[in-house]
Amino acid sequence: MKPPLPLLLAATLAFASPAYAKGDAARGLKIAQRNCAACHAVGRTGASANPKSPPFRTLAQRYPLAELEESLGEGIMVGHEGPEMPVFEFKPGQIADLIAYLGAIQVKKR
Ligand code: HEC
Repeated sequence: MKPPLPLLLAATLAFASPAYAKGDAARGLKIAQRNCAACHAVGRTGASANPKSPPFRTLAQRYPLAELEESLGEGIMVGHEGPEMPVFEFKPGQIADLIAYLGAIQVKKR
């Protein structure tokens, strides 16, 4: 069971790095469209171009976004293994934007 989103957001704002709170979801969407949309569905609807890539709106069903933020900061992409693995280098501000966007579109598992 995951806590409802407002609770999660409140916890995030209270405990996460300042970068987290500063993220701009609109810029995050642009980053996702530019870097990730070739494989992942990055919107609220639609299928991934690469069927093996989970749609971004479902990512939090697997692990907390804070974890993703951390691995992005280290240049590591969890789950990107093998020859298909792209390497990304983001500035902290870009990561905050991306996480803010991801946080805004997550859907619950049905
Ligand atoms: C070249 C295609 C490709 C691109 C571009 C790509 N991904 Fe992925 N991504 C994949 C594939 C394939 C998987 C599934 C890997 C697996 O399950 O083994 C995946 C999985 C993931 C996962 C989930 C890992 C898990 O354990 O569930 C995350 C998070 C992720 N990608 C983030 C991103 C982000 C953020 C970007 C853009 C910055 C991005 N990806 C760009 C192909 C891509």
